[in-house]
Amino acid sequence: MSKEIFVDGILKGHVAFITGGGTGITGGVARALAEAGASVALVSRKLEHLEPAARAINDARATNQNIGEALAIAADVRNFEEIEEAILATVVRFGKIDIVVNGAAGNFLSPAEALSANGFGTVVDIDLKGTFNVCRAAFAELKEHRGQILNISATLHYVGTPMQLHVSAAKAGVDALTRNLAVEWGRYGIRVNGIAPGPIEDTEGMKRLVPEPVKEKLRKNIPLGRFGRISDIESAALFLCSEAASFINGAVLVVDGGQWLSAAKFV
Ligand code: COA
Repeated sequence: MSKEIFVDGILKGHVAFITGGGTGITGGVARALAEAGASVALVSRKLEHLEPAARAINDARATNQNIGEALAIAADVRNFEEIEEAILATVVRFGKIDIVVNGAAGNFLSPAEALSANGFGTVVDIDLKGTFNVCRAAFAELKEHRGQILNISATLHYVGTPMQLHVSAAKAGVDALTRNLAVEWGRYGIRVNGIAPGPIEDTEGMKRLVPEPVKEKLRKNIPLGRFGRISDIESAALFLCSEAASFINGAVLVVDGGQWLSAAKFV
């Protein structure tokens, strides 16, 4: 869809470092940035999840040189040294990094009273500390190339979302990082923005976290009458990463069809 909306090659010459799996939202964003011409490093814990996504991008590039090259790197965002190594490997391969997309996230449903301290900490470590680790490790590159950061958060913390205390806390922290870094690093020409997706179909989150009987009720409560698509997030990411957004800094763009605004009605 994004190809029909954006002109070709809007990210040609850029290099993106994207955390998260090769499928779902981050997989879609990686593919969209590559189709827009950026070289992309796909980074997450398991290489076997990343390699098919990187291969698909590189296969498409074999017949269309306007598509950027993809590289798969195994690294855990919770481990600062692993992320530093992944940043270095990306720079060695592609020469620089000027776009960072923080999409790595962990999630499961749990009532607060059953959540262990380690369960809470694990999700905060992946989502929040992981986002900090990547931003911090990429800072020198972003400063040198007047780059930008795109943090994927959520709308869970805008309201009180049952069974999602740990994720809501982590994602609220991610939005805080977005705003603070926008202020602190804006002086270096680094833009820091976020996307807060609502319920997006064809994602692991939707499959695992929204029980089937709840799905239709949830959909009916979305003012635009449908679930989000991965392509909706791709388009938002392309816009925020492009020159069209060159004066946008510290924004968290909600892409949810108006879902959270009507969430109070949803019981
Ligand atoms: N309910 C309650 N607690 C849970 C849980 C669940 N479904 N899944 C994990 N936990 C707790 C564990 O019990 C453990 O705490 P404990 O030591 O007190 O028992 C803690 O979380 C860490 O679990 P572990 O499995 O060791 O962590 P991990 O690093 O291997 O996995 C998770 C990370 C927990 C986020 C895991 O759900 C995961 O890997 N998910 C896949 C990625 C994902 O969620 N993507 C986002 C899609 S929206």
